[in-house]
Amino acid sequence: MSNRTFTMIKPDAFRNGHSGAILDRIIKEGYRIVALKLTKLSAEKAGEFYAVHKERPFYGELVEFMSSGPIIAAILEKDNAVASFRELIGATNPAQAAEGTIRKLYATSVGENAVHGSDSDENAAIEGAFFFSGLEKF
Ligand code: RTP
Ligand code: MG
Repeated sequence: MSNRTFTMIKPDAFRNGHSGAILDRIIKEGYRIVALKLTKLSAEKAGEFYAVHKERPFYGELVEFMSSGPIIAAILEKDNAVASFRELIGATNPAQAAEGTIRKLYATSVGENAVHGSDSDENAAIEGAFFFSGLEKF
């Protein structure tokens, strides 16, 4: 079990002014920020990040959405980080997300669901390295 996960505040949440509240919640839940940046994905980079979904019907929409505006990327540290963070963000579809989860509070739809959370320790490491160099991790 690794103690790191990777997250993004997605373009919808950034646009809707929820970044501060989401970062505050993450810190209050006991995650330590290892790396943090405001950036924007090109369509090519968004496609690469979500390449595992290439064959899915929503891939085109997902790439378009994820490259539609700035995102905040972060590496977070806490015991059992991947699983506990998935619990904190809630189900992919905010209509099915538990009360009090970040997606329940801030997501608008299954496509525009406010935050990303890594789904395994292996992907957390790959995704963190996609955005951050060694010099940007503390
Ligand atoms: P994420 O990777 O962004 O943390 O989301 P997730 O694990 O909860 O969901 P995943 O299955 O990995 O899907 C990645 C993202 O694709 C979009 N999606 N749209 N229209 C749809 O049916 C649909 N299904 C998935 C969502 O933005 C989802 O977060
Ligand atoms: Mg996923």
